[in-house]
Amino acid sequence: MVMHPASTVSTGEGAEEVTLMIFGASGDLTGRKLVPALFSLFRNGYLSPKSLIVGVARRPKTDEDFRGETGSDIASMDLAGSWKEDWERFQSLLHYVRVDLNQPEDFALLRKRVEVLEQERGLSGKRVVYLATAPELFTPSVQNLSASGLAPRDASRLRVVIEKPFGHNLESARQLSHDLSPLLHEDQIYRIDHYLGKETVQNILLFRFGNAIFEPLFHRHHVDNVQITVAESQGIEGGRGGYYDKAGAMRDVLQNHVLQLACLVAMEPPSLFEAEYIRDEKLKVLQALSTSQLGDVDEWAVAGQYAASSLKGERLKAYVDEERVPADSRTETFVALEARIDNWRWAGVPFYLRTGKRMPSRVTEIAIQFKLPPLNLFTTVECDGSMCARVNARPNSLIFRIQPQESISLKFSTKRPGMQYQVEPVDMDFRFGEKFTEALPEAYERLLLDVIRGDSTLFTRSDELEAAWSFVDPILERWAQPDHRPELYHAGDWGPKMAHELLSRSGREWRVPRGY
Ligand code: BG6
Repeated sequence: MVMHPASTVSTGEGAEEVTLMIFGASGDLTGRKLVPALFSLFRNGYLSPKSLIVGVARRPKTDEDFRGETGSDIASMDLAGSWKEDWERFQSLLHYVRVDLNQPEDFALLRKRVEVLEQERGLSGKRVVYLATAPELFTPSVQNLSASGLAPRDASRLRVVIEKPFGHNLESARQLSHDLSPLLHEDQIYRIDHYLGKETVQNILLFRFGNAIFEPLFHRHHVDNVQITVAESQGIEGGRGGYYDKAGAMRDVLQNHVLQLACLVAMEPPSLFEAEYIRDEKLKVLQALSTSQLGDVDEWAVAGQYAASSLKGERLKAYVDEERVPADSRTETFVALEARIDNWRWAGVPFYLRTGKRMPSRVTEIAIQFKLPPLNLFTTVECDGSMCARVNARPNSLIFRIQPQESISLKFSTKRPGMQYQVEPVDMDFRFGEKFTEALPEAYERLLLDVIRGDSTLFTRSDELEAAWSFVDPILERWAQPDHRPELYHAGDWGPKMAHELLSRSGREWRVPRGY
């Protein structure tokens, strides 16, 4: 969330007037992400005080209850500046309506209440519905919205945001699209992948296509391999086990966040920086993902699950002992895989992708590992204690650190001062926190504003989503077979042994993200 030095609410030009309904308003996402993001937009003058935010959920609650609950979430967030005064003003935007999303009659009441509130505020009826609900409620919610007259098939009047998981596999994703298509136009559906809202993720495109010198290097002629890591130190906590056990690391993070990062690194430059042009290029990458030359799934995809461990004196539970996780669960909490992008630019370059819970640290980064110089002219002497050896120069690499301590760094070799030619690897670092004093906006702030403004650039189109499912489905099918079990790893490891073997058999190794 953006930090404010003082009360800065501005109501000037450009502040959006909208009715935003959050379905699933009793859920954790509403208090932790959505309301804080809307509050921040309000404080920064992007959301007009005329706007209306309606929490919708099954539990009976008053407007005051809803304001109180979301207010306590905000109070726990350690915001700078006189946020309390701003909250006083903001909370009048918040209302609550009790609705059972399976009950068409409840939608008639919702419509009535929304229309009255809009009339009082002089709102023109530009509406956004955010489906932060369980996935089985996506279709009934939209059907009931539509039947109640709250869902015109017109993107200038209604946009619907859908949280993941959008389907469980290719077939269910297609089914969901099929069920929604008679009710909403594709340009009304905003499938959110919050990774695309992260400032440093957006910067990948700017870095590649806003600078002329780096782009030619993103090519099989220069790149040896690409590694994408989305690691988290936490396990499955806070009762998320029920959801997570059905999803696993593949559906929860790799199918969406990691593949989207791969798209941004690998895509061709769009001819215009506009939603459809960018999404067309991302789609081509997803469609070119291939593993056909790599053999059976077990050869190139590794599933891991965290075992009971003790880390820094703390006893940590095994995944299977987490709340709401079955004791015999075979769900993966770690995935590592190798993929190829079969196109002219990337043919033959391994893309190593990994994500996991209970890793040594929370870090998301993309490492482009370049090839070695064609002739090895320089070596250096490296010593470990009394053992010294002559080693070759290290390959160059370019690292995008998405979080935390957002940065871009380029590793290259330099001459160690002295009478001989000895190579020393050094870093050229750009750190966001040193250059820019303002805090980076939260992903949800950016994405909510884009929905309100009708900009779908940072949202996933249905064909992209289907291409991503087509890639992961064969892996999930293999892992669903009774003879497959994820390999155990300990908290604080970078995944199980097989994840390392995935690279070591071709003489490569995973980069160890440094500095945490
Ligand atoms: C979510 C997953 O989409 O992304 C979570 O459901 C995961 O399991 C989270 O923890 C990671 O997001 P971030 O922004 O914290 O890296």
